[in-house]
Amino acid sequence: MKTYIITGGAGFIGANYVKFLLSTYSDVQLIVLDSLTYAGNLGTIANDVDGSRCIFVKGDICDQALVNQLFETYPVEVVVNFAAESHVDRSIENPRLFLETNIMGTQNLMDVARKHWVTGKDDKGYPTWKVGVRYHQVSTDEVYGSLGAEGYFTETTPLDPRSPYSASKTSADLIVKAYMETFKFPATITRCSNNYGPYHFPEKLIPLIIKNILEGKKLPVYGDGTNVRDWLYVEDHCKAIDKVVRNGRVGEVYNIGGHNEKQNIEIVKLTIDTIKRLMLEEPAYQAVLKTDLNKLNYDLITYVADRLGHDQRYAIDPTKISNELGWLPETNFATGIELTIRWYLENQAWSNEVTSGDYQKYYDLMYGNL
Ligand code: NAD
Ligand code: TYD
Repeated sequence: MKTYIITGGAGFIGANYVKFLLSTYSDVQLIVLDSLTYAGNLGTIANDVDGSRCIFVKGDICDQALVNQLFETYPVEVVVNFAAESHVDRSIENPRLFLETNIMGTQNLMDVARKHWVTGKDDKGYPTWKVGVRYHQVSTDEVYGSLGAEGYFTETTPLDPRSPYSASKTSADLIVKAYMETFKFPATITRCSNNYGPYHFPEKLIPLIIKNILEGKKLPVYGDGTNVRDWLYVEDHCKAIDKVVRNGRVGEVYNIGGHNEKQNIEIVKLTIDTIKRLMLEEPAYQAVLKTDLNKLNYDLITYVADRLGHDQRYAIDPTKISNELGWLPETNFATGIELTIRWYLENQAWSNEVTSGDYQKYYDLMYGNL
């Protein structure tokens, strides 16, 4: 049995990772540590938490005593750190929270792991480590900054973050790298492109657009809609992290992405088209539409003020992970977006639950004038 601490496991990617590990391996025990911010929802993993193979602990990754207690209670061998403030727009409103969670939380997790995993010193004074332990930092392609029309981010692209969110994630990466060098801390880092799929909080582009379409609301497109993101189905991201945690070389960074670049406006139009098609093909889905089917068209699109410092284009070169670890994305975008849309059509209760907190306040602040 291998015991993991999975931080942020009640959020979008973390919850998908918890479900992936539990359904793939019988010899894992998962301690999910999540403070349940607005973005975390215990209901998402309620069927997975059983108190033995999967244990939920509500708490902050910055809480040293709590993290220490988890290491004292369980034989933790792997830490996978998903916990973060993750939304660029919110980082523009409140940068400080991003620095606290994303940077100091990372440092805290590594320090507690260090205390429990070090076995002694080698002849040069470097710590020696328990066999089989691993810290994994879930990072983002946004640390590389913004691309023009050409080129791809590789692992050696200079770090050039441009939003408070990406600056905080870059800082965390640098602290992890510093620990790798200074202490030979057994860590890996992955930097992934934009994810989409089930359990995505509806403040991010794809789930927000789906929710607004179903409610007959305007679809806010920032700037001219030509910004490009490289979309990856969330399960493919989970499989890539699993490969890196199990077989990735300690001290290495791996980029994860699926060569699936799309302009935001293409995403919005495709989402409208797909929802309309599914509703015509399977009229039962129309029950969740709060407007007329014939109003479901491109007139819903509204161009709004651009995001401050809006990165123009992200695009990942995943050659390293594919050559070294044999990872390739399995879900193409046409399949993935349909799976995602069907999931939202069939899980309105989840959407309503996660947006029952301060969502409306945030929505009004961001889009109140629509
Ligand atoms: P999310 O916002 O959906 O979930 C974050 C989770 O972390 C939530 O459950 C929240 O409650 C928890 N959390 C926040 N602060 C915490 C704290 N101080 N202590 C404990 N738990 C805390 O985020 P996501 O989209 O699932 O992203 C997960 C990770 O993947 C993040 O580190 C993010 O930077 C990275 N990432 C995301 C994407 C993407 O497209 N969503 C792409 C690349 C990398
Ligand atoms: P988002 O999902 O917030 O992810 P990120 O900023 O981390 O890439 O945004 C994806 C793209 O969609 C980004 O270019 C901003 C744009 N966007 C809109 O045009 N309208 C929206 O309402 C949102 C939330 C995002």
